[in-house]
Amino acid sequence: MEKLILLKPTKEYEQQAKDFIQEFIDNNSKINGTGSLDSHTDNYDEWLVMVDDYSKGLNLKDGYSPASTYFAVRKTDNRIVGMINIRHQLSEYLLRHGGHIGYGVRPTERKKGYATEILHLGLEKCNELGIDKVLLTCDKDNIGSVKTIQNNYGLLENEILDDGTIVQRFWIDVKEVLSKHKGKTL
Ligand SMILES: CC(C)(COP(=O)(O)OP(=O)(O)OC[C@H]1O[C@@H](n2cnc3c(N)ncnc32)[C@H](O)[C@@H]1OP(=O)(O)O)[C@@H](O)C(=O)NCCC(=O)NCCS
Repeated sequence: MEKLILLKPTKEYEQQAKDFIQEFIDNNSKINGTGSLDSHTDNYDEWLVMVDDYSKGLNLKDGYSPASTYFAVRKTDNRIVGMINIRHQLSEYLLRHGGHIGYGVRPTERKKGYATEILHLGLEKCNELGIDKVLLTCDKDNIGSVKTIQNNYGLLENEILDDGTIVQRFWIDVKEVLSKHKGKTL
C-alpha cells in the first residue's frame, strides 16, 4: 500500500478538492469526513477560513465542536485519496451521531486499505490533541467502515436505533492502539 500523509487544507489543493467531491457525487456516494467541503466547493476560500477557525474553536456554528479537518494525500503522486474530520470534544449530539471522527475515501481508491490507514493517522492526531478515548459511530450495514474501525481495534459498546437505522458505537483507546503499532507499518 502506498503511504498517505494528513495535511491541513490549503489553497494549493483547491482544484483537487473540488474534483475529489465531484467523484463522490458522480458515484452517488455517501460523503463523510469533509468538514462540509461538499457544501462549500463554490466558496473554497471561505471554507479554508472556516476549517482553520474550527480547528481553533473560533466562530463555531451553534452546537458545533472544535474540529480538525485533513486531506489524506498520497505521497507518491500528491493525490487527495480521502479526508478525515476530527471533533475535539463530544457534544450530546455527537455521542449518538457521528462521534469524534468522520472519514471518507474517494470511490476510485476504495478497498486498497486507505480508510484503515487514514483512521490510524487520525488516531495519531487525536493523541496530539489529547483525546484519549475516541468514539466512532457507524451504520451497521456500512461493512467497509465497520471493518476500518475493527482494523484499528475499535471495541463495540452498543447498537442504537437512529431513525430506523442500526448504528454501532465503538471506542478506541488511543494510546493502547498506537503502542500496538509502534515500529510496525499498517
Ligand atoms: C467506508 C469507506 C471509508 C471504506 O474505505 P476503504 O478505503 O475502501 O476501506 P479499506 O480499504 O481500509 O477497507 C477496510 C476493510 O473493509 C473492506 N471493505 C471496504 N469496502 C467494503 C465494501 N463496500 N463492502 C465490503 N467490505 C468492504 C475491505 O475489503 C477491508 O477489509 P479487510 O480489512 O478484511 O481487508 C469508504 O467506502 C467510503 O468513503 N464510504 C463513504 C463514506 C463513509 O461511509 N464513511 C464512513 C462513515 S462511518
